[in-house]
Amino acid sequence: MLLNPGDEVIIIGPTWAQCPNNVLLCGAKPVIADRFTEGFLPDLDYLRTLINDRTKLIVVNSPNNPTGAVYPYEILRQIASIADEKGLYVFSDEVYSTLVYDKPFHSISEFYPSAENLVVFNSFSKAFCMTGWRVGYVVGPSHFIKRLVKMQENVAVCVSSISQWAAIEAIRGASAYTEPIREQFRARRTTLLDSLEGSPLIKYTVPDATFYLFVDISATGLDSRSFCSALLENEHVAITPGLSFGDAFDGYIRLAFTLEDDVIREGVRRIQHFLTTLNA
Ligand SMILES: Cc1ncc(COP(=O)(O)O)c(C=O)c1O
Repeated sequence: MLLNPGDEVIIIGPTWAQCPNNVLLCGAKPVIADRFTEGFLPDLDYLRTLINDRTKLIVVNSPNNPTGAVYPYEILRQIASIADEKGLYVFSDEVYSTLVYDKPFHSISEFYPSAENLVVFNSFSKAFCMTGWRVGYVVGPSHFIKRLVKMQENVAVCVSSISQWAAIEAIRGASAYTEPIREQFRARRTTLLDSLEGSPLIKYTVPDATFYLFVDISATGLDSRSFCSALLENEHVAITPGLSFGDAFDGYIRLAFTLEDDVIREGVRRIQHFLTTLNA
């Protein structure tokens, strides 16, 4: 629709795995911008070095899965300005925009007077805890949306009517649903951070948004897949290896604080037990 074989897409990482996979499905090449400043904010000088004649678009995901980073206004402004200067599209994945705890959320759309070179993606999955209902939406230039609809009609036809009615109810209630959901995740974040305190061999930055904690496990000496497999086999705790979010993140794991407080505490107790066996 936008990409041809040989085109390049810069994805500001770490990135949720389906994103580069979809670029590959288009026959294009995903290029992960995987250098950061403090708090997993993108290194924009490095981002500039990745742009070449084949680059078509930049993908931004703030709030970010897996780091929980929320990109500040100024960073988004600079990304929009780089894209404008180089004539690139921006795809902005904002599915966690209602799950922000400590910082204001800004959409990169604030820097676009019209949607001409911008496509924004959002979903009911996270904001309304409706993951299984499979409803999302896209805002973008009409020439792009027309082609997207053509593809959607031929691949998935439409969202089921049951899900559409559920989504209407969600939108009508909007903040009456999203605020309690956000507060519940905020409390679970506290439970996770309190439980993890003092754990050996791991480091992390408090996530400002989402329901994920991206944890640096490099001091364990294990790569992320070995860590996750051993944790699953020995302690029956399932977490995600950092490698799933880009090759540069093999020294990380992603924890999700989506379950009840007791389950989070028990999961952390087992992770800590696992870490002490590595320490021994
Ligand atoms: C960053 C990001 N974008 C998009 C999605 C897709 O969400 P869904 O397909 O449930 O709407 C996810 C799901 O985890 C995600 O983490």
